[in-house]
Amino acid sequence: MTITQSQQEPQTATTEKSGRQFHTTTSAYWLPSDEEEMDRLTGQHFALKGLFAGNLSRFMLDEQHHLKPGTRVLDIGCGPGTWPLEVATDFPSAEVVGVDIVDIFPKTHPTNTTFELGNVVDGLAYPDNSFDVVNMRFFLLALRKEEWPKAYAEAQRLLKPGGYLQVWECTPLVYGRDFVSNVGKNVAKFMEAHGQHPFVVDYLHGLLEAAGFDVIDLDKRMVDLGERGPLNRACLWNVVDVVKSTQPFMASLLGYETDEAYTAFTHQFAIECQMDPHAYWKVARAVALKR
Ligand SMILES: C[S@@+](CC[C@H](N)C(=O)[O-])C[C@H]1O[C@@H](n2cnc3c(N)ncnc32)[C@H](O)[C@@H]1O
Repeated sequence: MTITQSQQEPQTATTEKSGRQFHTTTSAYWLPSDEEEMDRLTGQHFALKGLFAGNLSRFMLDEQHHLKPGTRVLDIGCGPGTWPLEVATDFPSAEVVGVDIVDIFPKTHPTNTTFELGNVVDGLAYPDNSFDVVNMRFFLLALRKEEWPKAYAEAQRLLKPGGYLQVWECTPLVYGRDFVSNVGKNVAKFMEAHGQHPFVVDYLHGLLEAAGFDVIDLDKRMVDLGERGPLNRACLWNVVDVVKSTQPFMASLLGYETDEAYTAFTHQFAIECQMDPHAYWKVARAVALKR
């Protein structure tokens, strides 16, 4: 496999809050865009890949677990690009494109990958019917309620008829001890106040059908964050990291105003997730076929 070096210089403006970098774009996305977040997203990628036994649902692969040669794959909101890098490496005859509103793309990547800036809500710069597979993972904290139909309609426009859309979403942590569910409820309240859809995971089927897809699989998981298995642990630390990185928004809502108080709260949060009744993280992966 040939590797290429990206010449692209960073272009996206960022702002600092509680010592973390957040991007300043028109997107409603409210997680940081710094190196710590890139590390979290990479860890989350491998946890999700393990949980769902692969980057691509078996419904999108042939009997030999392969993509057809020449398959064009688009990852919308690719972040640091771990998913597209792995898909491009696993299927060298596929052509893989990653787009995101911020240029946090890998500097070095296989030659069958391209990374470009683009906002799915504004429309992406690719022709109709130009991809066989579109992947969209974890837009929960990125889209406003009215943007979900637009984003899925854009994926539908870009896919060839019979092409596959794979989406992955989760909910705030509302299952567990009061300490844990109180955090999840406050995250949901914050999202509602900002026009977002905290429980979109329960509406995926209807949203996808309305955007012109037939849902062929909807795989919902409840991950036990108190279990000691490696995937459970990876998911627990991922959720705790999200709580840490949303400090600028959650500290006053939760009543932990100083850095010391917020740090102590995140430690307690990790402990409470593992106490009885354990906390559960709801995650879903759906596969839909363009009609
Ligand atoms: C939670 S991260 C997930 C990253 C990657 N999909 C993954 O699973 O590792 C969400 C990503 O969506 C990007 N994003 C947010 N709003 C977007 C938009 N309107 N269009 C394209 N990308 C967007 C963010 O910059 C961020 O990289």
